Amino acid sequence: MTSFMVTPRLLKILLVEDSLAEARLLQEILKGATSYHFKFAHQTRLTAALGALEQEPFDLILLDLTLPDSAGLASLEPLLKTVPQIPIVVLTHHHDERLALEAVRRGAQDYLVKRDITLDILLRAINYAIERKQAALSLLRLNADLKENVSHLTEDIQAQAAELDKVKALNQMKTEFVSMLSHDFRNPLNTILLSAGLLEESGDRLTPEQQVNYFQMIRKAIKDMDQLLSEVLVLGRSESGKLQASLGPLNLVEFCWELINSLQSAQNEERQIRLVTQGNVDVGLWDTNLLRHILANLLSNALKYSDPPSPVLLELIGEPERVIFQITDQGRGIPPEALPELFNPFFRADNVGAVGGTGLGLAIAQRCAEIHGGRVTVHSRVNQGTTFTVTLPVWDDNTGLSE
Ligand SMILES: Nc1ncnc2c1ncn2[C@@H]1O[C@H](COP(=O)(O)OP(=O)(O)OP(=O)(O)O)[C@@H](O)[C@H]1O
Ligand SMILES: [Mg+2]
Repeated sequence: MTSFMVTPRLLKILLVEDSLAEARLLQEILKGATSYHFKFAHQTRLTAALGALEQEPFDLILLDLTLPDSAGLASLEPLLKTVPQIPIVVLTHHHDERLALEAVRRGAQDYLVKRDITLDILLRAINYAIERKQAALSLLRLNADLKENVSHLTEDIQAQAAELDKVKALNQMKTEFVSMLSHDFRNPLNTILLSAGLLEESGDRLTPEQQVNYFQMIRKAIKDMDQLLSEVLVLGRSESGKLQASLGPLNLVEFCWELINSLQSAQNEERQIRLVTQGNVDVGLWDTNLLRHILANLLSNALKYSDPPSPVLLELIGEPERVIFQITDQGRGIPPEALPELFNPFFRADNVGAVGGTGLGLAIAQRCAEIHGGRVTVHSRVNQGTTFTVTLPVWDDNTGLSE
């Protein structure tokens, strides 16, 4: 027959009991245990017990509910707060069993009626209390893990939903883009078709002026289509990352004058665009192509959406790390509800009236400003005027600007 030597488990018990006799009795009873080897610390007051708990670890607390410095359930809370991980068995007299039950409800693991205590009962209570506490603690841990997992899961789901929304919005935009584009091409194509048809079928019945008129309409329609095509191409290149800044030295003021002159002659615009500079703008490296897209679109809008003789102003403001370009007109303005969508491709406000346009200019200007590391913002009041502000950082070398 094989015999086992089972080493008794060491259990450190904090006995909080004001009666020395009761405390001794408990220790005596527990001496009879074979499965445990008990080590006791005895305190007669709650404050002393709390102090002891801060000094060393214990496996269990045996707590008398009538202490000189704390009566009844009041002892429980400070103990649970200080050592939430240590099981507590409450000791009580037979006449206040209800109190003991309440203690268990509030977080003690078990209770013992002093008069009934035997070794078996005491050991059972101690074992149960330890088991229950461990079960409660692991439940708490599980719960915390579960909460954390749920919150991770929620975050993941939210992120995926946001991603899905983005894809949906992108698809929607692509569909809109294609339908707008076909619409914008169909208009000039119809003009060409109609005018060419008229010239072909009834050319001999038309006066020379009428004929010239139809030819001019055809030419204008082709020019419009060409412009639309080049705008779409620029936007496409900017979206696909093909449009990249290539920086070089540039005299900004001279560049702006040339741009103003070419705009005025192209648009038969007799209005003067005033150019004002503030601070030092003879700084940095610039991409003339991107700058031209930005400023030409904003200046031509300012001219288009305001009437002579109101002035259009281009201000260049040099600041230490950036240059600000401000284009101001005193035209029809932009309705506030249109502002959030203003930079979307093909968007046009309701108050454009008969002024032609495709709604691509601002989208292009914004993308080009972004590629240059800056952005375009707008401030506008209906019937009073509009200011577009382009803020571009001053680059002094070509690094850090590739997308
Ligand atoms: N200076 C301005 N004053 C008033 N409204 C403006 C001004 N600039 C832009 N807008 C509004 O913003 C809309 C979008 O401008 P955007 O330049 O993108 O397109 P567009 O001028 O209509 O056409 P295009 O593609 O030919 O430039 C315009 O249709 C107009 O409603
Ligand atoms: Mg425009």
